[in-house]
Amino acid sequence: MMLTIPDFLTAEEVRHCRTALENAAWQDGRATAGDLAARVKANEQLAPDDSLTRKLGDFILERLGRNDRFMSAVLPLKVLPPRFNRYAGGGTYGHHVDNAIFSVPGTPHRIRSDVSATLFFCDPDEYDGGELIVEDTYGSHAVKLPAGHMVIYPGTSLHRVTPVTRGARIASFFWIQSLVRQDSQRALLWDMDEAIRRVRAETPESEAVPKLMAVYHNLLRQWADT
Ligand code: NI
Repeated sequence: MMLTIPDFLTAEEVRHCRTALENAAWQDGRATAGDLAARVKANEQLAPDDSLTRKLGDFILERLGRNDRFMSAVLPLKVLPPRFNRYAGGGTYGHHVDNAIFSVPGTPHRIRSDVSATLFFCDPDEYDGGELIVEDTYGSHAVKLPAGHMVIYPGTSLHRVTPVTRGARIASFFWIQSLVRQDSQRALLWDMDEAIRRVRAETPESEAVPKLMAVYHNLLRQWADT
């Protein structure tokens, strides 16, 4: 399931992050790529232990917990600290799939990348190219969102970023281990949650509401690992 989280950050918050990111110590993105990925990767990243990575990452993590749409669609168990990248001057990232397992820096913990997230810090008219292309069973989807918007998509997807031929594309990206490993099951829970919200809004007294909520929670109980 691919889903947009619109207005994850306000315009003011985006401006604040942008100012810091434009003066950041960008490094060659190949430093964090495996052998195969290094062949198709040409971008810049902030070091995971850069103080700005930590500061802005903590800010994003705090926002995730307050975003109902994100929490309901992703059902997060663990979130890898957000990272930051920059594409400019033809920068691109060819067709690849992300690692299944990531070590959490500075800890003995690992997370499984069930869901990938990209948070955009630049508006689409500020740069040419830089589309995130995600492949799924229904074909390929091009994503280029306004600053402050986020996209989430299954960690299992092959994806790429097309070359940025004008301007710069700055984004945050990170992975989430969900309580529910299977994308198809998360999609069913998301649809059901949406439908329940609608029934509650339209007919709050309906006896269907507690029954539907019981089904939702009992499915979650069956499918979740914690
Ligand atoms: Ni990737």
